[in-house]
Amino acid sequence: MTLSRREMLKAAAGVGALAALGLPSSRALGLALPRTSELLMRPIPSSGEKIPAIGIGTARRYDVEGSSEEMAVLKEVLAAFAVMGGQVVDTAPSYGRAEIVVGELVNAIGNRDDLFLATKVRAEGREAGIEQMEESFRRLHTDRIDLMQVHNLADVETQLATLREWKAAGRIRYLGITTSFDRQYEDFERVMREQEMDFIQVNYSLGDRGAGERILPLAADRGMAVLVNLPYARGRLFQKVDDRPLPEWAAEFDCESWGQFFLKFVLSEPAVTCAIPGTAKMTYLEDNLGAARGRLPNPELRQRMIALYDSL
Ligand SMILES: NC(=O)c1ccc[n+]([C@@H]2O[C@H](COP(=O)([O-])OP(=O)(O)OC[C@H]3O[C@@H](n4cnc5c(N)ncnc54)[C@H](OP(=O)(O)O)[C@@H]3O)[C@@H](O)[C@H]2O)c1
Repeated sequence: MTLSRREMLKAAAGVGALAALGLPSSRALGLALPRTSELLMRPIPSSGEKIPAIGIGTARRYDVEGSSEEMAVLKEVLAAFAVMGGQVVDTAPSYGRAEIVVGELVNAIGNRDDLFLATKVRAEGREAGIEQMEESFRRLHTDRIDLMQVHNLADVETQLATLREWKAAGRIRYLGITTSFDRQYEDFERVMREQEMDFIQVNYSLGDRGAGERILPLAADRGMAVLVNLPYARGRLFQKVDDRPLPEWAAEFDCESWGQFFLKFVLSEPAVTCAIPGTAKMTYLEDNLGAARGRLPNPELRQRMIALYDSL
């Protein structure tokens, strides 16, 4: 395949950035440069801007101390992610130190402009929301946040009003809401019907398909982009398949691992814009981004995936 000049420059700059950081070269990381241009991209309906269909979630695993060895690994992951064409990094002020860690690392790597940074607000009242979001700008070392989401519908109308003002002022590029609780779906749908929003974020996976019934179709109807959280049900899906081999028919949709099996299930739902698996290791990064390459399962194969999973 041929890389455009822009892609070549981006890839070359990324490799240079890795070297400058004292990180292993892309070859040592096992990264083949042409991959930068191969990721499946999906449009954000409200703008038409396209983003890669696999991002990174930072809950739990990015909640680490500044001097730790884990921090060095996360730096490598965030640097390589952008080199490989990834963009979306989802965090939140309520994930312990995760938002601070993302901000420090992206600042140190210097790849902020390659990334699509998504964070959240979870506060009661306008002033508390503003205070928390101002802190997120400082923590993320940026004057523009790509996506600000109201976390788990907390004081949703109040916070959305501020988000609209900030979007108009250019401080945030997109706004939306999140949940990962089925018990919030009714309220979530109400807000989706009542409010104009660029994004929603919801839990959806092969083992947790409830959002596929009404929320994903509603997002498509309302022209809202969808970030999928918990695409591995916090790792539970891997435990379920245990050490079983992949079925042979997984090759029909270019699937090389259980991780890709689970993520390709999510991405083959057309309403989904981007899945954000928790990714804090280089092996996971390679594996997860691989789900945004090659074919996706068709409706018949999706039914087979469900039948297999439900039989376990
Ligand atoms: N309401 C909300 O707004 C909300 C709620 C929940 C989550 N989120 C967002 O969604 C993101 C994803 O959720 P999550 O991280 O909790 O759960 P997840 O993505 O469903 O699962 C992540 C876990 O799967 C394992 N994993 C990841 N890639 C793998 C691979 N290729 N092969 C094998 N195992 C792999 C890792 O386990 P180990 O690290 O243990 O090996 C990882 O911690 C969060 O990070 C957060 O950004 C938002």
